[in-house]
Amino acid sequence: MKTHGGSDAAKRRAGEHAADLVGEGDVVGLGTGSTAAHAIRALGRAVDAGLDVRGVATSYAARDLAREVGVPLVDLDAVERIDVAIDGADQVSDDLDLIKGGGAAHAREKVVDAAADRFVVVVDPSKETDRLDGAVPVEVLPDARATVRRAIRDLDGTPTLRAAERKDGPVVTDNGNLVLDCEFGVVPDPAALASELAALPGVVAHGLFVGLADEVHVGHADGVRVRTAD
Ligand code: A5P
Repeated sequence: MKTHGGSDAAKRRAGEHAADLVGEGDVVGLGTGSTAAHAIRALGRAVDAGLDVRGVATSYAARDLAREVGVPLVDLDAVERIDVAIDGADQVSDDLDLIKGGGAAHAREKVVDAAADRFVVVVDPSKETDRLDGAVPVEVLPDARATVRRAIRDLDGTPTLRAAERKDGPVVTDNGNLVLDCEFGVVPDPAALASELAALPGVVAHGLFVGLADEVHVGHADGVRVRTAD
């Protein structure tokens, strides 16, 4: 369920705009996905031009891209703090709540994004919605997939095991787990659903990011609109 669609030019504008926020000496959370990748590339160019930053990668993909473009990396447990995290999203609501996990990286993304002093979301306008209604990715321990699937149905959700595209069988995350994409329709109370999902034994992380985003940079044809949490 990797995110497709949206204009690459808009994603680029958003990613580069957010990268401009990064200052000398900052530790930066490096998000996953096509929009965050633009920020990582922009940071690589800034490093080439002399900026001193260290990145904390949220996935193998983010790590590999950072290495390719020359952003120095550091492990999360080796830093005292993360100054800013820049990450994409699959949906952004009016309240700046998010659905993430289209690239199955949401477990590490949540750890890094939540640890950052400033969590900046970068999206194109196709991600904006008044209320969250997309499928919620839920990363589960492999042995728990049947029990979690039943529990999701008890919450009136419809879970689908995410299938790999160029491998027989399911997607296996960077953490060795599986992903259930769970349809709930419109989510009237994201915080309540987030608590219910987090409480299920066997759930490693779900893709609802509630109350975490500090600002959202939305790339448009003629610039970037910055939305901030009140
Ligand atoms: C990765 O698991 C996701 O949370 C991504 O951040 C999200 O899917 C956004 O990706 P795009 O920027 O490619 O749409």
